Amino acid sequence: MADRRDLDFTYSLIDRIFRLSLGEMADFSGAKYDGDFSLTLEEAQRRKHEYIREQIGIAPGRRVLDLGCGWGPLLNYVRGQGATGVGVTLSSAQAKACCRNGLDVHLRNALQVTTSDFGPFDAVASLGAFEHFCSPDEAAAGRQDEIYRNLFANIAGLLPPGGRLYLQTMVFGRNMIPREQITIDAPRESDAWYLALMGAQFPGSFLPYGSEQVVAAAEPHLRLVERTSGRLDYIETIKQWRKRFAEPSPRKTLVKLQLLPHYLTSKDFRLAFTSGVSANSVCFERELMDHFRLVFEKPA
Ligand SMILES: C[S@@+](CC[C@H](N)C(=O)[O-])C[C@H]1O[C@@H](n2cnc3c(N)ncnc32)[C@H](O)[C@@H]1O
Repeated sequence: MADRRDLDFTYSLIDRIFRLSLGEMADFSGAKYDGDFSLTLEEAQRRKHEYIREQIGIAPGRRVLDLGCGWGPLLNYVRGQGATGVGVTLSSAQAKACCRNGLDVHLRNALQVTTSDFGPFDAVASLGAFEHFCSPDEAAAGRQDEIYRNLFANIAGLLPPGGRLYLQTMVFGRNMIPREQITIDAPRESDAWYLALMGAQFPGSFLPYGSEQVVAAAEPHLRLVERTSGRLDYIETIKQWRKRFAEPSPRKTLVKLQLLPHYLTSKDFRLAFTSGVSANSVCFERELMDHFRLVFEKPA
């Protein structure tokens, strides 16, 4: 899995840029436009939360666990519904920001949460975190299925019979290339080059092969209830994110100046954050990657 160092690189290092661009509780996972791109990003993110509420049951008195909660957008929604939310993240800056905003968030590995940590839950959600749960090295060692199966067993252990999990994740798409071909030395703008850029931005992370791999790993413990692709919605989400990241502000300029030493000394930093291209958007367009919203239920 991506460890704390990897996740601090992706999320904590430019934590303030995220929050200054997307809001204090930055929502950093694909929104739900359902193809209606006349919606604002905020409306589409709200629609995503409402869909999750309907699917897993977020209501007063219910306890909801968010595995990989980011800056807490879902937990904030859960709070607004009168339910109780608990979140975990491995990014120290995110955990601090969430706690400052009064959310019950812990710097804890999502793969290891059991009832001994925070007790049982009525429902579990995980958005945009599954992508980080298996590393390229673990995938190369053939450990992907085992890692996912163990996670689903843990989640099932947290839920009552009939309890639900909402899982939203990127997966490799139907045009994914053999992973041995992925290198930053590949010709610029080739599939291999874009996928290598993704690897630079999200070190320690490797995707499942299609929603089928995820569903099969869950099956012994959790039954699939609903599956929809959010690939086109994600392309729109990224387009809107890029606009917001590009909006200038004096505070952002100041933070960028503070990051200058990283830019000057770290090739990884330059590759990940200043390539000037949107690798994830291109990977979705080329169907090297897809994106799914999956709802699971623990059998009675
Ligand atoms: C793309 S962000 C999504 C954040 C949030 N769910 C949202 O929708 O805005 C991925 C999140 O997963 C978290 N994460 C990844 N691997 C994790 C792990 N093993 N344990 C806990 N959190 C993890 C990261 O720290 C980050 O908060």
